[in-house]
Amino acid sequence: MTILVTGGAGFIGSNFVLDWLDVSDEPIINLDLLTYAGNRQNLAALEGDSRHVFVRGDIGDTELVARLLEEHRPRAVVNFAAESHVDRSILGPEEFIQTNIVGTFRLLEAVRGYWNDLPEGDREDFRFLHVSTDEVYGTLSPDEPAFTEQHRYEPNSPYSASKAASDHLVRSYLHTYGLPVLTTNCSNNYGPYHFPEKLIPLVIHNALAGKALPIYGDGQQVRDWLYVKDHCSAIRRVLQDGRTGETYNVGGWNEKPNLEVVETLCAILDERQPREDGRSYAEQITFVKDRPGHDRRYAIDASKIERELGWCPEETFETGIRKTVDWYLDNQVWVENVTSGAYRDWVEAQYA
Ligand code: NAD
Ligand code: TYD
Repeated sequence: MTILVTGGAGFIGSNFVLDWLDVSDEPIINLDLLTYAGNRQNLAALEGDSRHVFVRGDIGDTELVARLLEEHRPRAVVNFAAESHVDRSILGPEEFIQTNIVGTFRLLEAVRGYWNDLPEGDREDFRFLHVSTDEVYGTLSPDEPAFTEQHRYEPNSPYSASKAASDHLVRSYLHTYGLPVLTTNCSNNYGPYHFPEKLIPLVIHNALAGKALPIYGDGQQVRDWLYVKDHCSAIRRVLQDGRTGETYNVGGWNEKPNLEVVETLCAILDERQPREDGRSYAEQITFVKDRPGHDRRYAIDASKIERELGWCPEETFETGIRKTVDWYLDNQVWVENVTSGAYRDWVEAQYA
């Protein structure tokens, strides 16, 4: 048995691949285009491990995907591949439409062709698991209940709109063609291998570099944070026992305003690696122009996955965030490598 993972060199995908091969010997075919967000160094621990086959390529390359499916005959496909950063989607939405919508469509087409030709029993057992986001539900006011799976889709950024479109395509392949699909909608992840364009790794990186810690608007926007390894265990649970055609919300029951997250990071860094001048990293906090169309609050109601599949997160925000800071302190070479070259151009364009 084998599974095909797409986007397995990115933040969540590489954590998923590493964790999967930690807890099982089932091989993984890892298809990743290695965009700026994909990094083979994340998978360095699997060098020479025959259970991991890495293929550089595009989920939108139907011929390549069809060939990989024929060759390796996976029992499941887990689709992480996407353009994933809201700010980039605001500066340049085109790539998001290409990968998240057209790419997912082409991937589904290739999978449908393969699945159609499988023997009866294998067709039933096959799964296409689509990894999506809570951002498809739009924004919540402070008193509204958290997003359930029944919440209507109201995406507000080109990123979330393109993910919403991909979720709808996945759903349509079940209803029209009978493809056994599953969808997970998860809240904000954090942890090892997180590219330092997103809030938590950016703040750790900038703090240590003596740079400003940019807070958009008033910093009171709320996100629900989940340690990435908990997301990976949720995906494994859903893949194993999720009911075909269902969607599962995944979250950490950890709602925090951005400013509080940044202050927490500063306090942990003050303790772990104090500034040479003895002052707090919090002095580097700088309020900057707000993100256009900035969603005010996300919150996930994760009771369905807990009730039906017995999944709940292992980490609290307090334990997960400490592990994350420690990982970044211990992996400065990784940070240096990913923040060279094109990363600098991005930071200049975004925070100019
Ligand atoms: P990421 O940007 O770190 O990684 C995306 C990976 O996909 C990269 O390795 C990239 O090279 C690859 N990729 C991009 N376009 C591709 C293409 N056309 N073909 C093949 N590979 C391609 O993203 P992430 O944070 O790891 O997110 C993974 C998935 O989880 C995404 O679908 C995202 O929408 C979803 N998600 C992310 C979060 C989060 O907080 N990061 C939360 C919920 C859901
Ligand atoms: P981000 O990590 O980009 O994730 P998302 O937009 O998908 O939630 O941002 C998390 C929150 O932090 C979001 O409300 C935007 C905010 N933010 C800042 O205030 N400053 C920053 O420099 C960045 C990157 C994000």
